[in-house]
Amino acid sequence: MKKIIAITRGDGCGPEVVNEGIKILKIVSDFTDYDFEFKDAPAGGEVWKVFGTNLPEKSFDIIKNSDALLFGAIGLPDLSPGVAESAIMKIRQGLDLYVNLRPVKLYDVLREKCPLKSEFIGKGIDITFVRENTEGLYKNIGKLGEASAEDLMLYSRDGCERIIKFAFEFAKRQDHKIVTSVDKANILNTSKLWRKIFHEISGNYSNIKTEDIYIDAFTQWLIRAPHRFQTVVTGNMFGDIISDEGAFLIGSLGMGSSGNIHPGKVSMYEPIHGSAPDIAGKGIANPIGTILSVKLMFEESFNSSEIGRNIDNAVEAALQEGRTLDIQSKSLKTLSTIEMGDLIASKLKSTLKV
Ligand code: IPM
Ligand code: MG
Repeated sequence: MKKIIAITRGDGCGPEVVNEGIKILKIVSDFTDYDFEFKDAPAGGEVWKVFGTNLPEKSFDIIKNSDALLFGAIGLPDLSPGVAESAIMKIRQGLDLYVNLRPVKLYDVLREKCPLKSEFIGKGIDITFVRENTEGLYKNIGKLGEASAEDLMLYSRDGCERIIKFAFEFAKRQDHKIVTSVDKANILNTSKLWRKIFHEISGNYSNIKTEDIYIDAFTQWLIRAPHRFQTVVTGNMFGDIISDEGAFLIGSLGMGSSGNIHPGKVSMYEPIHGSAPDIAGKGIANPIGTILSVKLMFEESFNSSEIGRNIDNAVEAALQEGRTLDIQSKSLKTLSTIEMGDLIASKLKSTLKV
């Protein structure tokens, strides 16, 4: 099965973690009938410095004509906020990637790294955020003036329907028992429409329980009782915020993975951490967020949940033997980015071989 994978290494630690993602893809191609061709699609701050654009047309063409995009991280401290990062928005909007899928799973072996007390962790944390990814405050409708500034929060019925449907289909696929919708329907019109559509659609999924929670209350429940959530669907801005809160619960931001998805079309997979300029080039970044994004690529773009599961198991097995600095343990060897990738690759190899 031939697949073209566009590669955006990006800035800071982006190239280091992407290399480890590619390592995993290569292992899969060595032991299955997948055959990957990698095509570089440079984007971000360094590219902006050279070409005056953070997403050259050639890169976007490569991305558009690929089967999936593996994306590192972009952003440079010497550029104003957004100068590099808006490339992400161009890709999300340009490819209509309306789903932002962000799993927050605490591996048992990392329980001690979770900032919550054990009594709050309870049965464990395994939540998937389904964030609307093209509308809301991110539509870039508004203006920036001196005396005032405005951003329009706009949701269309179609936009709400497609993301909420995705969330229910995802929950069904994962055998989740509950879908939580997070909104601010006590104040925002957009949330009132969202909530109405949420209940219309939930009627088609009688086996799945539903609940609505206001965004402010949700941020508390997420740390008070994270085990009560499974699939959580929400709008763009709220999703941006709560997915960072969630990512902090799994031991390190470096563990967080994501997919920017349009089912059946080219989708983009990226770790949720930024370019981390403070640690760039030191070989200490955690590549697991990227490797788990590759896992999502198999599950969501290539319909290969079994390979996804194998990658997940390989990560979990590797975490018991060695770890990068951000999640290090006294009793285990502290590994570099490359060593962590090698260890996961070797675990994956031994399962795919049989
Ligand atoms: C994210 C990031 C982006 C966002 C930024 C970099 C534009 O925070 O992917 O969550 O706000 O969506
Ligand atoms: Mg964010």
